[in-house]
Amino acid sequence: MGVEIEVLDDPARACAAMLVGAAAAGDDIVLTGGSTPRRAYAEFVDAVKAVDADLSGARFWFGDERCVGADDERSNFRLANESLFLPLGDRASPEIHRMRGELGPEAGAEDYERQLAEAGIPEFDLLMLGIGPDGHTASLFPDQPTVRERDRLVVGVPEAGLEPFVPRISFTFAAIARAKNVVVLATGESKAQPIAAAFGSGARSDPHVPSSYLRECARELIVLVDPAAAACLPGRTADA
Ligand code: 6PG
Repeated sequence: MGVEIEVLDDPARACAAMLVGAAAAGDDIVLTGGSTPRRAYAEFVDAVKAVDADLSGARFWFGDERCVGADDERSNFRLANESLFLPLGDRASPEIHRMRGELGPEAGAEDYERQLAEAGIPEFDLLMLGIGPDGHTASLFPDQPTVRERDRLVVGVPEAGLEPFVPRISFTFAAIARAKNVVVLATGESKAQPIAAAFGSGARSDPHVPSSYLRECARELIVLVDPAAAACLPGRTADA
């Protein structure tokens, strides 16, 4: 699988444009968590309002969640709700499928697999991911057995490999492989090393760098980074 890497001053805006196109087309979109997406979600809302897009046919899913309540500050749903869903107001509210972190990792994973089955999801149209400084993506952490899971679509993660150290619910690479388009959004120097380890010319699939599996399992993969996150890619420096 080829990887398209775009080094941009404002990768969040490019990501938002992809989200607008997918949402306006009534697609199935998988959101990611952490802190990086906040800016992309805000840009998405601005772009939707600017073109008065109708999002009524879109369905939003989540690629991972922390096992906390929906209003907990660590919740990925809360991030999306605050920065994306609520600011959209009643603008043709899309269908939202929340991972129920409050059920705990295993019950929450089973519940989400049921949600996917009930929706008859054969594939997703656009799947967003971030990358951690340790090379994790979604909540697939280095050297954990979940990295190799290819039968289940959603798994419980009893121990997170990075803060917040709460159990998680996560898509597996089998679920990620069901996306027509995968977009990784990463900014800042702390992502430079994992970006190079996962997507650089010499990168190989390595359970110690879970994001490195994206090259083999994503059908179409675009990596949107700022110059700082691209600094360790061959031929680049942080200020290039
Ligand atoms: C999560 C995310 C996770 C995130 C990376 C990067 O639940 O934490 O889904 O995979 O994308 O940890 O997080 P930042 O954007 O905060 O650096």
